[in-house]
Amino acid sequence: MIKQQVFVTRKLNPEVIAMLEKVAEVEQWTKNAPIPRELLLEKIKHVDAVLTMLTERVDEEFLTSTKRLRIVANMAVGYDNIDLEACRRHEVIVTNTPDVLTESTADLAFALLMATGRRLTEANRFLLQGEWTAWSPTLMAGQNVYGSTIGIIGMGRIGEAVARRAKGFGMRILYHNRKRKPQAEQETGAQYADLAELLQASDYVVLLTPLTEDTRMLMGEKQFSLMKETAVFINVSRGGTVDESALYQALVDKKIWAAGLDVFAVEPVPMDNPLLQLPNVVALPHIGSATVQTRAEMARLAAANIVAVLSGRGPLTAV
Ligand code: DGY
Repeated sequence: MIKQQVFVTRKLNPEVIAMLEKVAEVEQWTKNAPIPRELLLEKIKHVDAVLTMLTERVDEEFLTSTKRLRIVANMAVGYDNIDLEACRRHEVIVTNTPDVLTESTADLAFALLMATGRRLTEANRFLLQGEWTAWSPTLMAGQNVYGSTIGIIGMGRIGEAVARRAKGFGMRILYHNRKRKPQAEQETGAQYADLAELLQASDYVVLLTPLTEDTRMLMGEKQFSLMKETAVFINVSRGGTVDESALYQALVDKKIWAAGLDVFAVEPVPMDNPLLQLPNVVALPHIGSATVQTRAEMARLAAANIVAVLSGRGPLTAV
C-alpha cells in the first residue's frame, strides 16, 4: 500500500512532525524562508496533505499541480492566501487555527495600541540617538490609554479578547461587526456602533476584520477623515483592509495622530514604503500571534487537522 504523503512548507517542532509521521511520510521545507513557488508546486504533486503558512498562495495553479490532495491545513487563523472556491471545486478541505492564537494576538494588538499611543518606539529611538538632554513637561507626551474610547472593527474572537483588555483599562468600548455580539456586550460593556459613529467617537480605532471582498480597503480617505485628530489607528488584521496612501496622507496632514501597523499591503513591507518614514508610525513585521507557545499550538492544531483527515475522520477546524 502506498503510504500517505504530507508536505510541510516550513520547519516546525519535531513533536509536530512526529504527529504527522504516525499517519504519513512527511517532507518538510526546512529553510527559514518561504519555499520558491516552482519547487513547492513540484513537491506537492503526489501529496495527500499540505501544511501551509500564510506565505503560500493556494490557488487554481496550486490545486491543479496536485493529483490527490485532500487537505490544506493553514497555520494561521486568516486564510486570505487560499482560494476557497477553487478548493471547493477540487474537493480539498481547508482548515485554519482559530482559538489557539486569540489571546496572544489580542496581547499584541493591545501592546501595539499602547506603544503607539504612548510613543514607545519613538521615545526609544530618541534616547538611543543621544537626544535626551533634559526632562521636559512635553517630552514624548502621548495620548491617554486609561479611560479613553476604543473602537474595535471586527468583533470576532480576537476583537472580544481586545475588549476584555480594554475593560481592564477603564476604556469605553465601541465595536462594529457584521452582527451584534450580545455576550461580549454583557461581558465587557461594549456598545455596538455603525462604522462612521465608531470612527468619530474613538480615541483608538483597532482593525481586526479578516480580509474579504467586503473589507478590502475598508479604511480609506473618507474613513480616516472621520477620525479625531488625536486618534490612533491600529491594524492587526491584513494590510489589504487599508488604503495605505490614504493612511499616509491622513498622518502627514495630521488628520489622525498616529498609526500602529502589524500588517501591510505588501509583506515583507518594502523599505521604501513612505509609512516607514513617519515618526508617528509603529511598524511591526506581522507578529500578531508570535509567541513561542502560541506558534507551537498553531502548528499542533494544523497537524492535528491533517491527522484527522488522513485517518478518515472529519477535520477539527474546517474553514
Ligand atoms: C493569522 O493567524 O492569520 C495571523 O495573521 C498570523 O499568525
